[in-house]
Amino acid sequence: MDEEGLASLKKWFLGYCRSFYTSREEDNRNIRLKEEHTEQVCAFMDILTLDLGLDPGERRLAGVVALLHDVGRFEQYRCYGTFRDSESENHGTLGVRVLTGEGVLDGLAPEERRMILGGVALHNVFRIPDAIDGPARRLLHLVRDADKLDIWRVFLEFYGLPPEEQASAVGLGFPDLPVCTPGVVETVMRGELVNLATLKTLSDFKLLQLSWVFDLNFAVSRRLVVERNYVEQMAATLPPGEDAARVVAFVREYLARSG
Ligand SMILES: [Fe+2]
Repeated sequence: MDEEGLASLKKWFLGYCRSFYTSREEDNRNIRLKEEHTEQVCAFMDILTLDLGLDPGERRLAGVVALLHDVGRFEQYRCYGTFRDSESENHGTLGVRVLTGEGVLDGLAPEERRMILGGVALHNVFRIPDAIDGPARRLLHLVRDADKLDIWRVFLEFYGLPPEEQASAVGLGFPDLPVCTPGVVETVMRGELVNLATLKTLSDFKLLQLSWVFDLNFAVSRRLVVERNYVEQMAATLPPGEDAARVVAFVREYLARSG
């Protein structure tokens, strides 16, 4: 990936985002949120790839995957009015369809195109298929870490806003109850990722987000979680009680141990 290729994709993406703004402030808030998220994921990607010492071409390719990973979100919101994949469709697959349909990657070498589409398609899967290895797998590891690092920011900001200022499609529709489901707590306490399908409340969703630390692939990513104070900020939004406190202590300890 050369400098020119990256610049032209950035330009395309900007124009593409712009085409989704409407006269409805609620819609615009949701679109803006994804546009800003993309910018921040790109910024995190830069930090990760610099820290890992990738060469400039690899860094630009990773930058393109960061730029395009959520390209399906815009069409998803326009068609279905939600960011919830289970109520609409998988936004990774949708992203691939958008990129292919718009011919965005047509000028690239087939191998680069394959890597980028693979990155977009699989950035959000629960588990990366074993068959994916080598540079394609590393690209996925990178985009999944960069994505999570910014989703924490998005949600922490969301939890801190009064309801009338929250982007409506972010909360994913879980009831905001001060209750943690026992099965969800136990999953995190085993050091495992929580599956979205097992959640009942917004508190469960916060536990799921804490469980993402187990899925981070690079020490630099775990360091960023600590630096940005994400666990402590998330802890402050959890309901009082032993369950939440146990989970937070466990996650904190995990980060200290694996740093
Ligand atoms: Fe994302």
